[in-house]
Amino acid sequence: MTPPSLDAARMLERIVALGEIGRTDGVLTRLAASDADRAARDRLVAWLREAGLDVVIDRIGNILGVWSTPENAGRAPVVMGSHIDTVIDAGIYDGCYGVLAGLAVIEALKESGATPLRPLAVVAFTNEEGVRFAPDMLGSLVAAGGMPLEAALAVVGTDGARLGDELQRIGYAGAADPGALRPHAYLELHIEQGPVLEREGASIGAVGRLQGISWRRVVFQGVANHAGTTPMAMRRDAGAAAARVIAWLRDRMRASNASTVATVGVIAFEPNAINVIPSRATFTVDLRDPDAARLRREEDALEEFLAEVARSEDVGVSVEVLARFEPVAFDPGLVAMIEEAAAARRLPCRRMVSGAGHDAQMMARVAPAAMIFVPSRDGVSHNPAEFTAQADLAAGAAVLLDVVARLACATPDDDGRAGG
Ligand code: GLV
Ligand code: MN
Ligand code: MN
Repeated sequence: MTPPSLDAARMLERIVALGEIGRTDGVLTRLAASDADRAARDRLVAWLREAGLDVVIDRIGNILGVWSTPENAGRAPVVMGSHIDTVIDAGIYDGCYGVLAGLAVIEALKESGATPLRPLAVVAFTNEEGVRFAPDMLGSLVAAGGMPLEAALAVVGTDGARLGDELQRIGYAGAADPGALRPHAYLELHIEQGPVLEREGASIGAVGRLQGISWRRVVFQGVANHAGTTPMAMRRDAGAAAARVIAWLRDRMRASNASTVATVGVIAFEPNAINVIPSRATFTVDLRDPDAARLRREEDALEEFLAEVARSEDVGVSVEVLARFEPVAFDPGLVAMIEEAAAARRLPCRRMVSGAGHDAQMMARVAPAAMIFVPSRDGVSHNPAEFTAQADLAAGAAVLLDVVARLACATPDDDGRAGG
């Protein structure tokens, strides 16, 4: 066996190639289970097959590429992964980097002649972003047993399509049981999507925790009326009610020095006409905090404020919780292994909390899990300007390779390593 060496150039070429799939007039949008997602999945499956991996599609559409040998078959695999669906007008690295780095790690180990004691797998989970179908991280949530398969397949997207129908339509309603994925350890390499690593001059983030996420859809129901003739005091303006909530959230989060962040990312008025008072406002609230109790307090405060706005604006209110995930602590043993691997390669490393949601937070329910972050230029993500330097992408993949090689080549008695 020669020391494994990861082909970072090939990995980057694939990231760029995948980033062209779902691009229209320069804009990359590859929502889960769309035609663009199908095309990207097809490309990924072709790469997995070229690498000699067994491709498994499960019933929620998660794609696995597995390398096992007669000697290690049947043992719990070391699994790497992330997602290849994107937000609207996305960058090319979010999720795709983790999947393609996982493939590159397996190729590197295969090409080196390594004989791992455990199978290795790379997975692309369905609908991580949650833009089209809520909740986010849906494929990994189902794989971890956190949502029944039938309920997940029945989720209706923002365009009225049912996830199960869309997976059938694009040919990715597989046959495997999503619950069969029980890794020995799960590792997810991802761009940071925030400013911390760049600001601190670190090239690797060892992610110890991930903050809690709470998503709601709120509807205010008022009365449409004439914009010119209706006195201000006689209005039941659903739009004004929604605006109050947006401003309240921003002011409240800014005034408290706490870590909670709040975003209203979707809003729609009906009838949506310049001279008609909105009868209906539908908007989303994304609340996040690393502290479970504080997140709950902020959710309660929001609920109270929504009721008070409904009263004072004389509008109806209804709230639907779209996603609710507690903060997650990753496996301390794996986090330490990431730090050790970075130190061995003399890469400045920082322990950190993830602000974004990731499939690793779901896999942490069923296996020791951890994440590796690399810097994002200017902390920008969910934006086409998302960028990570080639050297940082290569460094992150090298750390992933080292940790995975250590885990997969450890003797089966050494299972405790990953459990910390
Ligand atoms: C996923 O990208 C999220 O954190 O919303
Ligand atoms: Mn992501
Ligand atoms: Mn994302």
